[in-house]
Amino acid sequence: MVQAVEIQRTQNKKEKPSEQKLGFGVHYTDHMFILDYDAGSGWHSPRVVPYQPIVLDPAAKVFHYGQTVFEGLKAYRTEDGRVLLFRPNKNIQRLNRSNERLSIPYLEEDVFIDALKQLIEVDRDWIPSSPGTSLYIRPFIIATQPALGVAPSTQYKFMIIMSPVGAYYANGVNPVKIYVESHYVRAVNGGVGEAKTAGNYAAGLSAQEEAKAKGYEQVLWLDGVHRKYIEEVGSMNVFFKINGTVHTPALNGSILDGITRNSIIQQLQHWNIPVEERTISIEELYDYHEKGMLEEAFGTGTAAVISPIGELNWRGDKLIINNGETGELSAKLYESLTGIQTGTLPDPFGWMVEV
Ligand code: COI
Repeated sequence: MVQAVEIQRTQNKKEKPSEQKLGFGVHYTDHMFILDYDAGSGWHSPRVVPYQPIVLDPAAKVFHYGQTVFEGLKAYRTEDGRVLLFRPNKNIQRLNRSNERLSIPYLEEDVFIDALKQLIEVDRDWIPSSPGTSLYIRPFIIATQPALGVAPSTQYKFMIIMSPVGAYYANGVNPVKIYVESHYVRAVNGGVGEAKTAGNYAAGLSAQEEAKAKGYEQVLWLDGVHRKYIEEVGSMNVFFKINGTVHTPALNGSILDGITRNSIIQQLQHWNIPVEERTISIEELYDYHEKGMLEEAFGTGTAAVISPIGELNWRGDKLIINNGETGELSAKLYESLTGIQTGTLPDPFGWMVEV
C-alpha cells in the first residue's frame, strides 16, 4: 500500500552548478527521500526532507556487515519540458532481487515508483537539459539496527538521493582504456556478484587503483573460477561486435543484470542485428582480433550509457580496437538510446515513464 508522503521543503535552496561542469555524482539536489523499516511495523513514514547528513548509531549493521543494496537510474528533461524516467520498474525489480540475496525486506514496486515521483516533483528544477546531461537517481537501503550479532537487521532505511550529472568518465564519451584483471576476482557463482550491493564495488577498488596507476580507466573482470571468461567492467556490462554479430557475456549469477544491457539487446534485435548472449573467453577475443574480426567493443550502464572501448590490456598484451576510435555501431546505439531517453526519438519499446 502506498502511504501519503510527508513533504518538508528546504528554506535554503542551493545554487545550481553549471550544466557544462557537472561531472558525475558531485552535486546533490535540495531534497532526499526517506522511508523507515521496523520488524514490527514494516516500511513506514515516507518523507521528502531537505538534503542533509543522517545520524546513525555506530553499531548500525551496515557499517559492520555491509547489509546494503542500491540502484541507479536517470531522469531526463525533454525539449518540451516533460520529465521522463528510463524503465524504473526494472530498477525496483532488481532492487528486490538484491534485497532477497542480502536478507533485506521486500519493498513494494508502487512504493518505490511513488517515492521517485514525489522526490522528482519537489526537485524538478534540478533536472539538467544540456546534451549529455541528466539527473542521476540513487535509491539505496541500509541496515540500521544497532547490533553486532551477525544476523539480518530488524531495522532499515530506504533512501533516494539525486545528482545532476554529465558523462561518467572524465574523458566524456571518448573510448575508454580497460585493464583485464588476472590477479583479483570480483565475484563467483553463488556469491553476491549479481546483486547491486556495496561489497562488490569495494572488492574492485584495489584492482581499479592499480589499473589507474598503469593508465587504465577501469578493470575488466574475468570469471572467478577459471580466470578465463569475460564477465563485466564493474560500472558497466560489455559487448563485442565480431564479424557482424554482437556478443555479450550471458548472465551467469556473477554478472550484474544491467538494464541498459537488456535495452541494448532489445534495440539490436529490433534492428535485426544478430546478438548472442554466451560465454566468451578472453583468449577467444584476442584470437578474433588477430584474425581482424573484432570490429568494436563497448560498455553499457546507467552511469556509463554507451562507452566505446578503445583498448584492452591482458597480461601486458595490448589490444587496440577499431584504432582506438568510437565505432559506428557504438555511436548509433548511443544516439538511439539517448534519443529515446530524452524524448527526441520515438520510444517503440514503451520504456519511458513520464513523471
Ligand atoms: C550505474 O550505472 O548506475 C551504476 O550503478 C554504476 C556505478 C557504480 C556508477
